[in-house]
Amino acid sequence: MSVVKKRPLSLPEPNSKQLDAEIDRLCAAGLESLGYGEEQLELLAKKTWQINALKKERNVVIPAHVYQRAEILAGVADLKGDSYKLAKDCTQVDADVIVFCGVRFMAETAKILNPDKEVLLPAKEAGCSLADSITAQDVRAIKKKHPGLPVVSYINTTAEVKAESDVIVTSANAVKILEKVYAEHPRVIFLPDAWMGRNLAKQMGKKVGSEMIVWEGKCIVHENFDAGSVKFYRKMYPGVRILAHAECSPALVDTVDFVGGTGDMLRFVKDTAAPHYMLVTECGLGDLARTEMPDKHFVPMCRLCPYMKAIDLDRILQALADPKPSQRIKVSARIARQARLSIERMFELAEDSAQR
Ligand code: 13P
Ligand code: SF4
Repeated sequence: MSVVKKRPLSLPEPNSKQLDAEIDRLCAAGLESLGYGEEQLELLAKKTWQINALKKERNVVIPAHVYQRAEILAGVADLKGDSYKLAKDCTQVDADVIVFCGVRFMAETAKILNPDKEVLLPAKEAGCSLADSITAQDVRAIKKKHPGLPVVSYINTTAEVKAESDVIVTSANAVKILEKVYAEHPRVIFLPDAWMGRNLAKQMGKKVGSEMIVWEGKCIVHENFDAGSVKFYRKMYPGVRILAHAECSPALVDTVDFVGGTGDMLRFVKDTAAPHYMLVTECGLGDLARTEMPDKHFVPMCRLCPYMKAIDLDRILQALADPKPSQRIKVSARIARQARLSIERMFELAEDSAQR
């Protein structure tokens, strides 16, 4: 097992030429267009340079979710994407160490898929309200109440909950996978997102409570968007295309032009021509969209996820240079073995092109 060696915080220092080149690189990646000033860029550039130098020295890879801070995505991330893409990318990592910039369930998934690698989560507070809404014991109780029903769990769950599940889904593949599960079972348990469950049930014509047993977990970010303000912006910005994450309420989802995961939302924007776009989700996605598509106009409408934003460059640098025990992701071998089966079932069903 490879381990990042403990050493005092002696960090590599860029010379002025290296620092200027790093500032130019961050500008070219779009940070200037997000409003980062000269002083800020200089500060950030020193840290991104140091992180990248340590990454090379210690054979580290940094996957980063699209909700992460713009300087992380533009400056130090090696792999970027939604929760499905990052999980999939983590099946093909060569590095000795994974420093995961996302939330705990994502880092745990990386560890489950790479049991022999060191996986670090720079901020121990980087949890998720959905993952916290249900325990493995809750899943065992719901299975006892509904014997024989398959448990389809959103990836926003702990390793222990995944170990109790039959298959994992993300917003990118939930419909496809559920269709396959429903082809063999008239009733399923879906957890833990109450609103995503209801959105999926409506889209698939399934009855909540009978055909789909749904857990009542909520995302603290997406539960706070309201359908009324979405309607207001539609009037304010004629022609605006409004996209919402699948964790939003059914009432809001009814008013928008597109519903999906973060990767689907970005693809929709890339593939359509509209005068304005509104991304009803965490603010990081809008920042990333602005850097990747500077010619498109985005109407501001977003909320910060305090868990995702718990990670910053200082914490990444510290985790790389001298990881604390609380930053090391640990999943017991038994849980990892069981959880891996439900994650691999997701890969298999999500990538299977065969018709039902
Ligand atoms: P995605 O899989 O769409 O990236 O969503 C992850 C998430 O946590 C949304 O709140
Ligand atoms: Fe969890 Fe919501 Fe944050 Fe996503 S946005 S990580 S679902 S709390």
